[in-house]
Amino acid sequence: MLENINGDFKNKDILSLDQFSTEDIGIIFRLTRKMKDIAVNARPSKFLEGKIVALIFYEPSTRTFSSFSAAVKRLGGQTIEVLDPQHFSSVSKGETLADTIRVLEAYCDCIVLRHPQKGAAETAARAAFFLPVINAGDGTGDHPTQALLDMCTIHEKHERLDNLTGVIAGDLLNGRTVHSLIKGLSLYKNNTLYLLSPGELKLSRQDYTNFREKGINLIKIESVKDMPGNADFWYWTRVQKERFESFKSYEKVKNKFIVTKELVKKYAGNKTIIMHPLPRVGEIDIEVDSDPRAVYLRSQIHNGMYVRMALVSLVLGKNES
Ligand code: NCD
Repeated sequence: MLENINGDFKNKDILSLDQFSTEDIGIIFRLTRKMKDIAVNARPSKFLEGKIVALIFYEPSTRTFSSFSAAVKRLGGQTIEVLDPQHFSSVSKGETLADTIRVLEAYCDCIVLRHPQKGAAETAARAAFFLPVINAGDGTGDHPTQALLDMCTIHEKHERLDNLTGVIAGDLLNGRTVHSLIKGLSLYKNNTLYLLSPGELKLSRQDYTNFREKGINLIKIESVKDMPGNADFWYWTRVQKERFESFKSYEKVKNKFIVTKELVKKYAGNKTIIMHPLPRVGEIDIEVDSDPRAVYLRSQIHNGMYVRMALVSLVLGKNES
């Protein structure tokens, strides 16, 4: 259920950044630092010994799936991995999500779910009587663990999560990572986000209104010329092809904005970090990868595993490492 964390993660479902306070995020980041030490120094850990986490992914995933799996294993826990349940589980026989969850909860201590439908993680959380469900991406809805790792990456660089100016570009209508990141940054004061997208991929009116009500300053722009100079971060995203009704409508709007060396030279500053949740499909030129400000194939990836090590531990009732 969408229950506030209030400093106590044990057995809580993690569905949306709306459940968090800045203190809760502080708790995760403190434990994340300890988790980084375990992972970087390959320290053997029995922190999650005896625990089994089920990873049920109805949609493709590289980073989220592998980093959750690695996170549990680095801490001595084990995983049940159900990939593509539409073909490789009784879902192919017509079993509902709720029944699938009820069955799997008999075998494990926590369920991590990715699903193409917005709201599916909440449905799963309602179905699960005994254990917590972590949302690993529900359709166009939310992707809270991605936002936590994104915020951890911003914090690592700027040592704060307030008074930031950022650019978020790409598919703001369908991108769940964007929705969760905006919710997360709304918890802190004085953040301004420039939202760069083609008209067709703007935030939905409802999302825009909801986010604004949380107090974050959102500025919609449709041209790179309107980007602020020397922003604290750029967060580029992929146009979400799988959410379009036809390939033609996707082709019409894909890759309107591409990060090139020239764009970085013109608009980024010394302190600007360049982020992307990945996968990228052409919206960041590979020439930019070697720029030290590009963190998408560096710390952003690593932080994904550390943050998930911390979050799974907290949800399973462990805080001290
Ligand atoms: C994102 C997702 O699945 O929402 N990927 C990820 O988890 N890093 C972004 C995307 O697919 O565009």
